[in-house]
Amino acid sequence: MSVNQGKIKELVTLREQAKLGGGQRRIDSQHAKGKLTARERIDLLLDEGSFEEFDMFVTHRCTNFGIEKESYYGDGVVTGYGTIDGRLVYVFSQDFTVFGGSLSETFAAKICKVMDMAMKNGAPVIGINDSGGARIQEAVNALSGYTEIFQRNIMASGVIPQISAIMGPCAGGAVYSPALTDFILMNKGTSYMFVTGPKVVKTVTGEEVTQEQLGGASMHSTKSGVAHFVCENEQEGMAIIRKLLSYLPQNNLEDAPLVACTDDIDRLEDALNELIPDNPNKPYDVLDVIHAIVDNGEFLESQRTFAPNIVTGFARFNGQSVGIIANQPKYYAGVLDINASRKAARFVRFCDAFNIPIVTLVDVPGFLPGTAQEYGGIITHGAKLLFAYGEATVPKVTVILRKAYGGAYCVMSSKHLRGDLNYAWPTAEIAVMGAQGAVEVLMAKEAKAIEDDAKRAEFLAEKEEEYRQKFANPYVAAKYGYIDDVIEPRNTRFRIIRALQSLVTKKVVNPPKKHSNIPL
Ligand code: HXC
Repeated sequence: MSVNQGKIKELVTLREQAKLGGGQRRIDSQHAKGKLTARERIDLLLDEGSFEEFDMFVTHRCTNFGIEKESYYGDGVVTGYGTIDGRLVYVFSQDFTVFGGSLSETFAAKICKVMDMAMKNGAPVIGINDSGGARIQEAVNALSGYTEIFQRNIMASGVIPQISAIMGPCAGGAVYSPALTDFILMNKGTSYMFVTGPKVVKTVTGEEVTQEQLGGASMHSTKSGVAHFVCENEQEGMAIIRKLLSYLPQNNLEDAPLVACTDDIDRLEDALNELIPDNPNKPYDVLDVIHAIVDNGEFLESQRTFAPNIVTGFARFNGQSVGIIANQPKYYAGVLDINASRKAARFVRFCDAFNIPIVTLVDVPGFLPGTAQEYGGIITHGAKLLFAYGEATVPKVTVILRKAYGGAYCVMSSKHLRGDLNYAWPTAEIAVMGAQGAVEVLMAKEAKAIEDDAKRAEFLAEKEEEYRQKFANPYVAAKYGYIDDVIEPRNTRFRIIRALQSLVTKKVVNPPKKHSNIPL
């Protein structure tokens, strides 16, 4: 064997060794837990054969607690770049087989390197998390490593899309890197996220709670809203990330990719003409409207099970990516509450940061009343949504399907918040409040003066009908130009497509400032 051949053989051997991470025994144990390895996850995520790895031969430099006697190539995180549908992405994937995927100084430096490269080249970063947190032997060097990552997450926010997949433990301060990214995906059953684990919770508060109850995928996708997507298994998880990226641009200076549209752009949907129930208090499913109007009925819903009274997600019109926000009358009459406001506000801001036009479908009876909401700060949280819409400069197309009452009318991408094209269906009711509430306020004295119950009820019913005739329609708003047109529901798809086409060259610039002060 020549010297060169010997050196190449050594390289091949070192690579094989590095690819084994913490060794076959630990890989088997990872599989036995129903989890894939860091490398298997990357293979599923990226286009076949596209992965280029960095820093395969990095090892830790720590000498505490005898750890100097144990080291593994790669030091517990696999990093590099590759492509998804041919588009460049950067990726890091924590390797639980090496010190439980715990984060060391060198581990953090590897992640920082891919994040810096992603920023330089304007490409998304995907982080796959499966880690026991800070490497205990590394002490403050692990903490500094985390914080260097946080700083980069913050600088990258609004510049490149950042996506986190949680495929195992993610606890303590480690949760804050995913929390700073744009979207979090969790795997059912194997992933959990919490700031303090069950043992600490028991000591501090006395509560007995399992990992799953405290920070599992179902909790975070229904109660806290931390998780945007939940997958049944890791294969599905990686497919969701690939799909999500298909709707997004590479960075904030680009537009999302245009996809060839295989759906008729002037497709009429007769069923929409019949969709709104005669009784204004009867619900319907706004997803039926979304599926009927978007290209091929395809809609990727974000935070599907959190605050279901508002729907957020991505779709396409004539191949162009849009963010859809829709009140959902099927849940709590589509009312705006704290969680719905937070959910939609963050989604609007994401779309605006990444040049994705916003389509808003409105059917909202108002903000949710009550002490729970007021004590929880609905004023501040509702203001987030108002702020997000008002600040957004991307094309904004709004269709009022039914109710648009009170403050909620103002908030939901109204003309007055620089809505570009605002349409209403003939079934729209644009008013300060619903007929019953309005008449109770306006006619309180007159109603009180009528002693006979039946007569009073008859009087109120008459006045309600009068109010409904006067205000429960789109024409008062249309008279003032607050609505650009009243459209037939079945025409909604092509009216939105035309509207978006007319807005392709839209340019609006907010006044220069260091940054705004959104009510956080
Ligand atoms: C060093 C660690 C480690 C850690 C796990 N390991 N966590 N090594 N530092 N943080 C090692 C284990 O020693 C073990 O080594 C291997 O990883 C696998 O761990 P197991 O315990 O066998 O696995 P499992 O039973 O699945 O339990 C996983 C776990 C548990 C729940 C994550 O390991 C655990 O509780 N780890 C400690 C978590 C923790 O307290 N981290 C610090 C949080 S504070 P061998 O050699 O046997 O394979 C924090 C602050 C961040 O992160 C602040 C940022 C601002």
